[in-house]
Order: sequence, then C-alpha cells, then structure tokens
Amino acid sequence: MAESMKGLRRSHRCTEVSNHNIGETVTVMGWVQKSRNKGGIIFVDVRDRSGLLQVIFEEGDVGSEGFAKAERLRSEFVIAVVGKVEARSGAVNDNLATGDIEVRATEIRVLSEADTPPFPIEEDSKTKEELRLKYRYLDLRRPDLQKNLILRSKVAVITRQFLAEEGFLEIETPMLTKSTPEGARDYLVPSRVHPGNFYALPQSPQIFKQLLMCSGYDRYFQIVKCFRDEDLRADRQPEFTQIDMELSFVDVDDVLDVNERLLQKMFKESIGFDVPLPIQRMTYAEAMERFGSDKPDIRFGLELKNVSEVVKSCGFAVFTGALEKGGSVRGINAKGQGDMPRKKIDALVDFAKDFGAKGLAYLAIDKDGTYKSSFAKFMTEEELKTLVTAMEGEPGDLLLFAADEDDVVFAVLGNLRLEIARNLNLLNKEEYKFLWVTEFPLLEYSKEEDRFVAKHHPFTMPMDEDLALLNTDPGKVRAKAYDIVLNGTEVGGGSVRIFQSDVQEKMFEVLGFTKEAAYERFGFLLNAFKYGVPPHAGLAYGLDRLVMLMTKEDSIRDVIAFPKVKDASCVMTEAPNVVDEKQLKELGIAIAIENNK
Ligand code: AMO
Ligand code: AMP
Repeated sequence: MAESMKGLRRSHRCTEVSNHNIGETVTVMGWVQKSRNKGGIIFVDVRDRSGLLQVIFEEGDVGSEGFAKAERLRSEFVIAVVGKVEARSGAVNDNLATGDIEVRATEIRVLSEADTPPFPIEEDSKTKEELRLKYRYLDLRRPDLQKNLILRSKVAVITRQFLAEEGFLEIETPMLTKSTPEGARDYLVPSRVHPGNFYALPQSPQIFKQLLMCSGYDRYFQIVKCFRDEDLRADRQPEFTQIDMELSFVDVDDVLDVNERLLQKMFKESIGFDVPLPIQRMTYAEAMERFGSDKPDIRFGLELKNVSEVVKSCGFAVFTGALEKGGSVRGINAKGQGDMPRKKIDALVDFAKDFGAKGLAYLAIDKDGTYKSSFAKFMTEEELKTLVTAMEGEPGDLLLFAADEDDVVFAVLGNLRLEIARNLNLLNKEEYKFLWVTEFPLLEYSKEEDRFVAKHHPFTMPMDEDLALLNTDPGKVRAKAYDIVLNGTEVGGGSVRIFQSDVQEKMFEVLGFTKEAAYERFGFLLNAFKYGVPPHAGLAYGLDRLVMLMTKEDSIRDVIAFPKVKDASCVMTEAPNVVDEKQLKELGIAIAIENNK
C-alpha cells in the first residue's frame, strides 16, 4: 500500500542533516537500509544518494499508527519521515557522516513497499556481477556505484566549464551517419526509406569536427557517445563516451597545452589530485625501446634493455638465431627476484607465450653470485658475465630475456613487465602518472591486408621533416599524433590533421585507395578542403577510462550506468534481440543465419 507524499516536502538529503540542525524539524525521504526493532524503540537507517541517516521511532512521538507502520518496515521500502534532529543517544558512529545525530520521527509515510531484493544493497558487494547487471537498477543503488556516477557527472561538468571558458563551443554531430574511419567494425542501422542502405553509428565524430573547423567554428567540443563493434575488454565497451575536441590554427604544442590544463583542473576539482605540469613527453620510439609499449605505465621501472650487441656472437643459438633473422634480444632485470621459485618462473614463461614468445630465457643470480639459468650451458663464463653486466645484474636479481622479431620482443617484455609489477604489488592506484606519447608512426603495415593502414586515422598529418619519406619509405614516416597515457592506460589520443588536398591525396594513395574510392568515402571532406580550410588539430578522451582510473576501478563497467557484458549484450534488457517479422519486412531485411539465441 503506497501512501502519498502530499503536504510533505523534503527539506534535506540524508547527509545534509548535521549537528547544526539539532533541535530543528526536518523531512527526509529515501530507502530503508535496515531496521532494528528493540521493543519499544525502532531504529531505521534511511538511505538516499547522499548516504545514511538514523531515524528512531517511539510510540510516544509518532503515535500508535505511525509506530505500527515503522514496525512493518523492511529493507528497500521507500519512506518519508518528519522528525526532530537530536544528538545521538547511543554510541557515536564515526564511520557515518551523520554518526553523531539521529532524527526522532514524529510522522512516517510508506511511499512504496518493496520485495526482498535478489541481493543486499551494500558497499563492496560480494554478489556476482552477472546477477548485479541483471538487476542493474538495484545495483545502481549501491553507494560505490553511486559515488562513481556522481564523480563521472562532476568530471563532465568541470570539462564543460573549462572548455567553455577556453572558447570552445559545444556542438552536436549526427548519430545516424556514414562509416567513419577509426578502424573498428561499424554498427549499422538499416534505412526503411532506402531499403538495402544502412547508416553507420559514429565510431567518433572525427570527420564532422574537421568539417566544423572548415566552417569556421574555431574550437569545438562534445561529450559524445561513440560506437565500435570490437572485442570487449575491461577497458572497452561497444558504446562509450568521448570528450571530443578540435581546434583551428594550432599545432601539437597548443593542443597539449590546453589539455594539460584541462586534466589538471579535472583531477584537482574532482578527486583533489594535483597533476604536476608540464606532463612528461616521450616519443613512441623511446616508449617502445624502454617499456615495450606505446602506453607505458611509468609508475615503476623494470625497463627493457637491448642486449643484441652483447650476445651477437655468443654460443646460444636462440639468441644468435633471432638476431640473424633481423630480430633483437632484450631483457628485463627483475631486481631482487633472484629467489623466485621455479614454478613462478615457469608461470612467467607461460605468460610470455600468450604474447607470442617461443620461450623466455632466464638467469637468476644467487646471493653468493652464482648463476641459475635456462641457457648458461650454451654460454661461456665470460659471455654470461658480460651479459649480466650489461643488465646491471647484481646478486639476488632475476634476468629475463626474449629473442625474436622486435614486435614480438616488445609485446612479450612490455606485458611481462606489467605482470611482474602486478605480482610484486608495484601498481599503486593512489598514484597518477601521466605521459604524452608523441611522434607515432603514421602508418602500420597490415600483413592481413598486405598494405599500409593508418595507425591513427587517414587525416593525420605527417611530421614536417618526414613528409618527403611518404614517397620513398612510408613505413618510416612519423606523425603529428599523440596519446595521453595514464598509469599504462591510453585515456586519449589525437593528432594534427592534414589540411592540404595534395598531402591528403598522397596519403590515400599510400593507403591503397584510388582517388575515386577516396572521394566515394570521404568526398565531402576532400571537397570541403577545396573551399578554404584552416590548419587544425584535436584530441578525444575516453571519459569512461578516465573515470575508471579516478575511481580506482578495474573495469569501465563500474563507471557506466548501464554497461554491456563481454558478448556486447545487455543482460538487463536482453538487447540485442530478435524483432518482429513486420519490422524486418518494412526494412526489406531477411535473416539468412539461424538465430542461435
Ligand atoms: P581514438 O580512436 O584514439 O581517437 O579514441 C579516443 C579515446 O577513446 C577511448 N576509446 C574507448 N573507450 C572505451 N571503449 C572503447 N571501445 C574505446 N575506444 C576508444 C580511448 C581512446 O584514447 N577521432 C579520434 C580522436 C582524434 O583524433 O581527435 C579518436 O576517436 O581512451
Ligand atoms: P631450448 O634450447 O629451446 O630448450 O631453449 C633454452 C631456453 O631458451 C629455454 O629457457 C627457453 O624457454 C628459452 N627460449 C626459447 N626460445 C626463446 C626465445 N625466442 N626468446 C627467449 N628465450 C627463449
């Protein structure tokens, strides 16, 4: 039985009531967290998004009818309570914002009753995520998720404020559009009016924001949904949110400057963290060389060392063989890990194999300076010593080596570095280490497609000094592209754009597009460039990833109200789902594949 709230008006959220209000009458509304009946007195914790407030019911204050209602309260009932604020009669609860007060109820209304929820609404839930996602509306009542979404809202507000002050205009771009070139698969939407034709949901507003620069809007931003049909991971969702921006008459430094100030303000005002400026910059080449990754986590060392020169004529065929094939031998010195048990080393070898390693060679230096190694028997004492010296190995250290093509060595050691750091608990979530990675390669060779593909996207400007290489050695061209990396996660990326039609056409040629094909896909952009285009550049953040790191969560699902699971479905709404025959018919669509739902 639901009562009306007629005549009542909420005066405070639960934790807005404080010891300053002692003696005042307040009206609070919210959910029953728990209720304890101690005979003549009932204690009820009322919860709203701000937190908890203790209310006490005694027949003398609330009347017999009111007391009877209080006796029937169960978890998750929605109630309105009018009462007087008092200093807490029992022990003060230091864990609660309102732990030193309570409200003595004079009136209660049960606005809504509730079935027993399938899991308790509590912080640090032990309930399986699958069940929580099925009842996401209940999961979202939990304080941890509420805190996350409140912080997310704050970040969005700060971003809007900052960018508006910096002269950015918030402009919307279409959701029903044409395929954009960010490299993932598109989500398609069939057209009823044009049977057999499809819109694509945007992977990003890339082309539209560049057109807005052509139209003279000078500085644009948008907090915008993007859609990418790619394999999901903890930091990837099929629909996610970008803080997207584009600026005219700028080069790399201008974009980095305004974004450093945005990040500083965002982190200070949302979580109180001071981002020291300027943010460190590192070229892509250096990042790969030192960390085996284009998004290095610089909270810890364990850097890679290239020992190819040192081992080039040693007796270990695994090393020399890799070098003869044009590869390299690199190693990591896991300081102080020389006594790692064999089982754990074997686990690292298996881990390395997941990233394409054929093996992982190791050398442990005992406290007494003797070696335990998987390859010592293939090397002379002298060769081993030189290698250990090159790795700055000391008694107690564990040296790990990969020998292969550079790509494989980087992937293996880059990931191994992280695995070791995780095992050694070196990843401190309280620490935020930002890094700009710059000078990305413009192109990357796709073995699958047997052609160059754009590493960022086809509108990215080559570095001035590498322009000529586009004709002679495209694989070597570096781009005016940059990523912003936070604790080993790519939280944003962007580039200076090509604004000269001849360079853009050259770029399409290198990518293997005929002029016709390029015009067919991006004609409106190439044509726009013919009518006066300012030099422009931009960047987009993954908002979900930023907030995930700010809230110290391990998954972006925990900062998205209604996320999808691994197979891109929503377990609550059961989307995607079959649709009516009638709808398909209207769209001119026939299903050719058996539905295995
Ligand atoms: P990019 O493709 O690098 O650049 O995307 C920008 C940022 O968006 C985030 N991101 C994702 N977050 C969650 N789930 C996903 N599936 C996902 N994919 C990307 C990442 C990434 O750094 N138009 C360009 C930007 C530009 O050049 O201005 C773009 O979209 O944090
Ligand atoms: P093997 O002679 O094949 O038994 O290899 C000797 C040691 O070298 C073992 O510890 C292997 O794990 C390791 N190893 C094999 N291939 C590689 C490689 N490509 N890079 C580094 N170590 C390797």
